[in-house]
Amino acid sequence: MAKPVAIEVYNPNGKYRVVSTKPMPGTRWINLLIDQGCRVEICHLKKTILSVEDIIDLIGNKCDGVIGQLTEDWGETLFSALSKAGGKAFSNMAVGYNNVDVEAANKYKIAVGNTPGVLTETTAELAASLSLAAARRIVEADGFMRAGLYEGWLPHLFVGNLLKGQTVGVIGAGRIGSAYARMMVEGFKMNLIYYDLYQSTRLEKFVTAYGQFLKANGEQPVTWKRASSMEEVLREADLISLHPILDKTTYHLVNKERLAIMKKEAILVNCSRGPVIDEAALVDHLRENPMFRVGLDVFEEEPFMKPGLADMKNAVVVPHIASASKWTREGMATLAALNVLGRIKGYPIWQDPNRVDPFLNENASPPAASPSIVNSKALGLPVSKL
Ligand code: GLV
Repeated sequence: MAKPVAIEVYNPNGKYRVVSTKPMPGTRWINLLIDQGCRVEICHLKKTILSVEDIIDLIGNKCDGVIGQLTEDWGETLFSALSKAGGKAFSNMAVGYNNVDVEAANKYKIAVGNTPGVLTETTAELAASLSLAAARRIVEADGFMRAGLYEGWLPHLFVGNLLKGQTVGVIGAGRIGSAYARMMVEGFKMNLIYYDLYQSTRLEKFVTAYGQFLKANGEQPVTWKRASSMEEVLREADLISLHPILDKTTYHLVNKERLAIMKKEAILVNCSRGPVIDEAALVDHLRENPMFRVGLDVFEEEPFMKPGLADMKNAVVVPHIASASKWTREGMATLAALNVLGRIKGYPIWQDPNRVDPFLNENASPPAASPSIVNSKALGLPVSKL
């Protein structure tokens, strides 16, 4: 028997039933759905991570689409249940979708949406915040003040790393990695070394132009280099930020051996996905190298940290909040809702998931399209000509 769950319902007589497994920020996403004939059901179950069984109960016998979260396991079981209930679409409220078995979705002809673009700068800003917090030992120093330990200025008190003129290493120079690189180059005048399978010409051009600008103003110009291996970045950079997607090839990308080639006083930042780092090896490395620091937004087995990590003073840890600005989270909710709505209404797929601004303009109706469907090609869905 279905477990009773706390559901908030909008527009009970709507023709299409759309379920959101969590309350999401803002109200625009709800209004957009109900304006186009959807009944919206929002799950308020007091449980942070819903199980597959919980979600099956939510889907029920008739469900046109689901908006879900990156903590949920969207595989064969859920796509089969959604398909049986007549569903056409699922959207993660996230850009990453390593929690989704896209092959299984393809099998049941269910479109899978994600929310790119809207979280690029917000996520890069958190990576920059962690970089600064780790470099300047902000969290340690804050704890020291609050513990009443401050007795006066001292030459050695919380000495950290200067970023200006040092090298920032970016692994994965896609949307977020490039935005982070620009922040660190432009804001702190760091030189850039990056590793990516694809050349980031735009990023290279930006650093070149900024270097010329600095030179013209009598300052030391910044430089860039595209590394031919990840090891080159790890060896040369003073601050390294990880921005790959998580898949089989990036699991434990940073392991014991690779940690060992990094500078002893380097800073490592991860706002991508936890399993990209072998977290147990990282804890050992932090213990053995007290001048090595990390800023982590993601963990290998969330919500848990590997034993010992919480005791490391050289680690700054925050609970997967990289995309957590009001504008971004409301925008993510909007994109996820429009992904689902677009499929329900039979709209085409937006041609460029990197340019989703027209969907985020609160003063205009969004385009009649799904902003970002990751399996649109596999499902043979038409692309918008708008
Ligand atoms: C957050 O981690 C996301 O992938 O959007």
